[in-house]
Amino acid sequence: MFDTKTVKSRKYLTLSCQVSNNCCTFAHRKIIKGKSMKDDTIIKSLKTIMNRRGITQRELANMIGKDETVISRWFAGKVGISSSSITLLESALGEKIYDDSNLKRALITGVTGQDGSYLSEFLIEKGYDVHGIIRRSSVDYRERIAHLEGHPNFHLHYGDLGDSMSLVKVIGAVRPDEIYNLAAQSHVQVSFDSPEFTADVDATGVLRVLEAVRACGMEKTCRIYQASTSELYGKVEEVPQNENTPFHPYSPYAVAKLYGFWIVKEYREAYNMFCCSGILFNHESERRGETFVTRKITLAAARIAQGMQDCLYLGNMSSLRDWGYAKDYVECMWLILQNCKPEDFVIATGVQHSVREFAYYAFKHAGIELEFRGEGLREVGVCVKVRGNVSKTLVGKELIRVSEDFYRPTDVVNLWGDPTKAKAKLGWNPNKTSFEDLVKIMVESDMAKVAGEGVAAKVRTNLAEYLEKGIVK
Ligand code: NAP
Ligand code: GDD
Repeated sequence: MFDTKTVKSRKYLTLSCQVSNNCCTFAHRKIIKGKSMKDDTIIKSLKTIMNRRGITQRELANMIGKDETVISRWFAGKVGISSSSITLLESALGEKIYDDSNLKRALITGVTGQDGSYLSEFLIEKGYDVHGIIRRSSVDYRERIAHLEGHPNFHLHYGDLGDSMSLVKVIGAVRPDEIYNLAAQSHVQVSFDSPEFTADVDATGVLRVLEAVRACGMEKTCRIYQASTSELYGKVEEVPQNENTPFHPYSPYAVAKLYGFWIVKEYREAYNMFCCSGILFNHESERRGETFVTRKITLAAARIAQGMQDCLYLGNMSSLRDWGYAKDYVECMWLILQNCKPEDFVIATGVQHSVREFAYYAFKHAGIELEFRGEGLREVGVCVKVRGNVSKTLVGKELIRVSEDFYRPTDVVNLWGDPTKAKAKLGWNPNKTSFEDLVKIMVESDMAKVAGEGVAAKVRTNLAEYLEKGIVK
């Protein structure tokens, strides 16, 4: 039975949400500043029906007893269509304008994460019915997917990768055609602090997903994508790295992910399941977690440029990464599952940069020209020039310093991927977004975010300050 509960969101007005077992489907459309959310899928379907039956906007308005301007506003995307209007339209037209029974169904673990949010958007756009697994948390804070809640093709379920029963329940209820297992304790440095938790989620969690699929008798029908990682190459044995490069995991995170990789391969061979790993190199975005190095840098550059932070502390600035744009990478996750046979793929741009270079370009986009002086723990990034609204008082100041706090017990320092196989077999373009564009996208987004934070930022506990002081790594 459904038990109707009210969920309050910080950012939005009250949502009404039905909670049944561990399924939480947002039945009512979200209201933002008094308007309903735009819904392209429904408008598209409504237009198709009107074209097919030769119904004009005015006729439709008459059929449902509304003013024609209401219909125009729906079509212009100015307001979305409420659930009650959908019901009204369907009863007036005598057919469903929105039927999800034939849609392909995808289940995403880690839906609240950077990749989960982009993948949800991508799959909804492709016409999927998307289901995501969320963990219960003490604060209701799902910023990355807030804009999707209320979409008729987006559903959330409570579950946890540490809890087999919850996975069996959700998978059995949703019966997905495709599962994207993105959930993980994904921070490498944190894996040194919480190695057991990391192993439970990133290693055994993968096994739990595979076993849940088998327990639901879906091993022949459900395709599974596993979020694997370039961290498997770890203490690298060759550059660049491809699908045949030997693995040498170099952190508790990488060791756990190696188990995930091998158990997926094992289930593929033992049970003939369509399960594959995408060996993804670092991919970033304006939605990247604030403690990963790129986002830490772009946020700090924006804050320093706007006078809200004094200095950025980093660890090993010589570390090299192959950074891509997360939005481009989620397409590849989908392509891997559309392939004719289950295979593993390296996903990377094929271009490598150091942390120092990333910082240089990020600060430059924020209006601050840096010069790096010194070496190792004594290295500093000094401001030599400013542009635009940035205060001239920054010139001559050390804006980047090195802190031992951000060095790892073992660090992976030379990741560089070779995406040849993905290009050839999946037709994927690894260079859609250049390194320069990625930095620009992230800095511009953080400049706007920091400018908008204003007074509120000074009141709330400031993560950037925590990062600066090394309290949170
Ligand atoms: P992310 O932003 O850190 O998101 C991780 C997601 O996993 C969050 O939704 C988190 O939920 C969820 N999660 C963590 N523990 C869980 C648990 N016990 N049960 C259920 N959900 C849990 O990571 P991302 O950057 O999107 O990366 C997605 C996946 O790709 C991860 O597996 C990561 O290891 C892998 N990967 C990432 C990259 C990269 O560069 N981004 C590269 C290679 C591989 P909460 O919101 O509740 O914490
Ligand atoms: N986080 C962080 N903070 N890293 C720093 C810092 C700092 O202050 N200073 C230097 N670094 C260096 C790290 O030592 C590492 O060599 C590099 O910057 C990148 O660190 P992260 O951005 O934390 O990412 P990661 O490469 O360790 O892990 C990410 O990419 C993996 C794919 O290779 C995560 O997304 C993993 O989940 C993913 O598997």
